[in-house]
Amino acid sequence: MKSIVVANWKMNPPTFRAAKKLLEVTKKSAERSGALIVVAPPAIFLRELRQLYRGKRLAYAVQNAHFEGSGAYTGEISLQQAHDAGASYVVIGHAERRAMGESEDDTRKKVAAALARSMTPILCVGEKSRSASGEYFGVVKQQLRAGFTNVPAGKVARVIVAYEPIWAIGAEAAMSPRDMHEMSIFIRKTIVEMHGELGHRVVILYGGSIDEKNAGEMLRLGDVRGLLVGRASADPVRVSALLRSL
Ligand code: PGA
Repeated sequence: MKSIVVANWKMNPPTFRAAKKLLEVTKKSAERSGALIVVAPPAIFLRELRQLYRGKRLAYAVQNAHFEGSGAYTGEISLQQAHDAGASYVVIGHAERRAMGESEDDTRKKVAAALARSMTPILCVGEKSRSASGEYFGVVKQQLRAGFTNVPAGKVARVIVAYEPIWAIGAEAAMSPRDMHEMSIFIRKTIVEMHGELGHRVVILYGGSIDEKNAGEMLRLGDVRGLLVGRASADPVRVSALLRSL
């Protein structure tokens, strides 16, 4: 099965010109790597990028979207608008959005709304910190439970879970593949408890300080199908090194 790399550009790069350059490099490297690259650019660049760059190994995501179809939500974009502009994936509940106030109620509605629109939700979960007592499992469980509450039974396996421990986002080092393996088992178990055996088929990604030095090892040993990459995806040199390393 081919690996999935989600390139979360966040609020980068500064101009459309730079975005084109970054995507050109990303697309070329993706074709060589054999992975599926899901690029999540700032929404304002999405339609034009998608018109310029298409490919079997390239798909698009938005970094967020509203669960309502339309209405008085200044500054928001709807899933339908995102889909119309070329996104087939939507990142939901990223730690940086949760920090800006996105609630469990929001993630629950967004995951269900994305599935209803035939878009693939990438539900981000992850704890702020860890201690030896293991209470972080409870945090992750609660985030998963919220996100999966309104998922129709038959669609469970269409949700992608991105585990991103907040302490490893924008940090110096990623989590160890061994710890990720443990977390993957826990994530599947939690979803199976809620929705039955289909939960085993949920695709799990790891995110947090992934680069060309640790990506391959995480894919081999972390029990994940793919990676969610921030900084290293928004720099032409680093993204090509990362994709080459796969
Ligand atoms: P990072 O970000 O790769 O820069 O740590 C990951 C993320 O926030 O998705």
